[in-house]
Amino acid sequence: MSNPAIDAIFTRRSVRAYTAQKVDNETVDLLAKTALAAPSGSNSQPVNVIVVRDRALIGEAEKAVIAYFVKTGESAVVDRIKSRNNKVFYDAPVCFFLAVKNKASTDTGIAAENISIAATALGLGSIILGLPNVIFNDPETAAYWKGKLAFPEDYEFGLAVAVGYAAGTGKPHDIDLKKISYID
Ligand SMILES: Cc1cc2nc3c(=O)[nH]c(=O)nc-3n(C[C@H](O)[C@H](O)[C@H](O)COP(=O)(O)O)c2cc1C
Repeated sequence: MSNPAIDAIFTRRSVRAYTAQKVDNETVDLLAKTALAAPSGSNSQPVNVIVVRDRALIGEAEKAVIAYFVKTGESAVVDRIKSRNNKVFYDAPVCFFLAVKNKASTDTGIAAENISIAATALGLGSIILGLPNVIFNDPETAAYWKGKLAFPEDYEFGLAVAVGYAAGTGKPHDIDLKKISYID
């Protein structure tokens, strides 16, 4: 079956290298709106979208995330980041930070996936990012980063979604059909 929504779901993959090409404003606005169109428990709409295109700010956040894992001695994570050229945001030209209230992590995930699927449908690459959460939760840095991104009062970091034009190609992960069962 060929259908644009189904194709986007099955071709989406996490992109960890981007070209320098910017994403136009209209597309960025549209992607931000897809997060708000996501369903949420009791229609609580707990997610706010903060669009960050400031490269210097993303670079600063990247260094802060790495510094956190060095500080806490989580060498496996430090090594993983090192193996990715010390990238956390992968030089994507735009990053959607999803700030969330009431610990609504399921709603955040759905909003993030909306952005990723829509980006794929528009020919863009994307990746959902959980690692940045550490700089918003470490008491030493949380207030600074929530302030820098102008989080509304009582909102926490949920997820980030980096978006841009993919540098290179890749394949979606294999799916394991054994994980589907039927009870008729
Ligand atoms: C909630 C969530 C958080 C993630 N956080 C990160 C992250 O911080 N860094 C990263 O490189 N990938 C991150 N990923 C991407 C996963 O590693 C990726 O989805 C997984 O390896 C499957 O690959 P695929 O997206 O290409 O299918 C995250 C994915 C999800 C759903």
